[in-house]
Amino acid sequence: MAPRRDHLHAVAARHGGHGHDRGARNKGRRQCRWNEARGRGVVDGRCGPDHRIRWAGRGLVMDAERKKEEGHMPTVLITGANSGIGLEFARQYAARGWAVIAANRSPFKPADYAQLGYDATEIRYDAQDDKKAAELALRLKGRPIDVVILNAGISEETEAAPEEVTAESFERSMMVNTYAPLHLAALLEDNLKMGEAKLLVGVSSLAADTGRYDVPRQFAYRASKAALNQMWRNLAVEWKDWGCTCITLRPGRVRTRMTGYAGDLSVEQAVSGMIGVLDRATPEDNGAFIWHGTELA
Ligand SMILES: NC(=O)c1ccc[n+]([C@@H]2O[C@H](COP(=O)([O-])OP(=O)(O)OC[C@H]3O[C@@H](n4cnc5c(N)ncnc54)[C@H](OP(=O)(O)O)[C@@H]3O)[C@@H](O)[C@H]2O)c1
Repeated sequence: MAPRRDHLHAVAARHGGHGHDRGARNKGRRQCRWNEARGRGVVDGRCGPDHRIRWAGRGLVMDAERKKEEGHMPTVLITGANSGIGLEFARQYAARGWAVIAANRSPFKPADYAQLGYDATEIRYDAQDDKKAAELALRLKGRPIDVVILNAGISEETEAAPEEVTAESFERSMMVNTYAPLHLAALLEDNLKMGEAKLLVGVSSLAADTGRYDVPRQFAYRASKAALNQMWRNLAVEWKDWGCTCITLRPGRVRTRMTGYAGDLSVEQAVSGMIGVLDRATPEDNGAFIWHGTELA
């Protein structure tokens, strides 16, 4: 294997390796690049329980070894970790022995926080308040962060017809779903540079897919997530030189508060699938918008 500026591989290898097939990935950007994962339990974007258990178990063992050997703890920051997808990201990373930094507007339920272990930190964060973002960055100054997951998001006026879309709601959606992730990413640039994985993740949506024309309404949401993806592509260019890999993910339709608990996937399924994607990500994925095994437009 040619030598690479590949921090993700270094981290993934320490966490048990990801064993993906480079040959398959090179066949085409839009082709499924994680087909091999199907053999490990990922089928049509769903992860079987065997995959989760083996994967989480391996993570725990590797993290424990790594902590002993190097005194370094892999760290993930998640916004909106008190609810839904964000909470499940926090749970699954904590279960592998990672330190979780939760940037939450509403506090954790005590039982949820306790589940994350002693290495979890909760910091108050409001995506509509730049002062809170600055305070968070100040508190984390000098701390390496391997993976930043900008997950906090809102979905408003989803049924509004064109003439019913309000400026207030549109502005709020753009603020929370688009501007705030960019702003916080910029504030955490030094933390990511200090981390090993250097992985910046935006939680996007199929509604952002510019190649899809059958999405009814959701004007502000769709615009805000499409803009998020475009900004991530900009960051992918901007931060390529220092090895940052910027990825946006589609979680699937997940049963959370946002969807009124309707959808095809449980949070466990959706998040274990997304973490599988992140484990297998390489700098070649910089700028990609990914739905489990497929790159979207
Ligand atoms: N569920 C799906 O099917 C689906 C599909 C595609 C994409 N997504 C995306 O996945 C992400 C998570 O959504 P979810 O489904 O897990 O919904 P959720 O349970 O409603 O979680 C949304 C999270 O965002 C936080 N948030 C909202 N506004 C915030 C603000 N101003 N400042 C800080 N945090 C704020 C919420 O905090 P509070 O508890 O304080 O409100 C909550 O923690 C969102 O970006 C969403 O667009 C979800």
